[in-house]
Amino acid sequence: MSDVYESDQLLSEYLLMHYGKHQELMPWGFGPAAAIGFPTRTVGYFPAETGARSLDLGCAVGGSSFELSKDSEEVLGMDFSHSFIAAAEEMRTKGHIDYRMLETGNKTTSATATLPEGARPEQVSFFQGDAMHLPADLGSFHRVHAANLICRLPEPEKLLRRLPDLVQQGGHLVLATPCTWLDEFTAPDKQPEDDTFTWLQNQLKGSFQLVSRHDEPFLIRETARKFQWTVSLVTVWQRN
Ligand SMILES: C[S@@+](CC[C@H](N)C(=O)[O-])C[C@H]1O[C@@H](n2cnc3c(N)ncnc32)[C@H](O)[C@@H]1O
Repeated sequence: MSDVYESDQLLSEYLLMHYGKHQELMPWGFGPAAAIGFPTRTVGYFPAETGARSLDLGCAVGGSSFELSKDSEEVLGMDFSHSFIAAAEEMRTKGHIDYRMLETGNKTTSATATLPEGARPEQVSFFQGDAMHLPADLGSFHRVHAANLICRLPEPEKLLRRLPDLVQQGGHLVLATPCTWLDEFTAPDKQPEDDTFTWLQNQLKGSFQLVSRHDEPFLIRETARKFQWTVSLVTVWQRN
């Protein structure tokens, strides 16, 4: 599996994407500001309920996990990257991380990631693991969140087959994907043959009802002058 998510550069980019202030993430007034706050917006698609048990698959540095903690009794955040999970754990225990943002060339400036207001880190735990081989004893959840994960998996169907066990009856699944299928992550024969939405419907029918679908932009700041602007397909499902 790719170790691209272990680099310092990606760690800095994801700390910024998950916890950065508007001005840090998009200093240009004419930039796509609507793409800021993706880790919060996807969690906003869960129906309001308190006391939920929540699972955040491919949680990266934990922004959505802390968002889920605001009204969840328990949140498990998991990711394959040791570096991301170490950062998420540091956010949980210390509430902040100092890091460097790349400006241009080798020039960096300092930044501090802080927990979102209302986060309840004491409700959250993180673990490193593989979303295609989750522990058998994880139990089931009211909410399962998997943002921009499935098109980074070598065998996405392994996770999709496990989802009916992970989501409790009546519980919700929020699945976001930019559909950026790449052979370096997912071999061509493991990628959807149809468009991604049709493939998801075929994979999940029988166990889930589609509640809604949305297009959500997100922004990754590489340098002060270079950004990735991408649109994720967000689907919301309820377990039968
Ligand atoms: C594109 S990032 C999305 C991160 C985060 N959910 C977000 O929306 O910002 C993909 C994430 O999936 C994680 N990942 C890749 N393969 C994984 C696997 N087999 N199991 C769990 N996480 C994985 C990466 O480490 C990375 O954090």
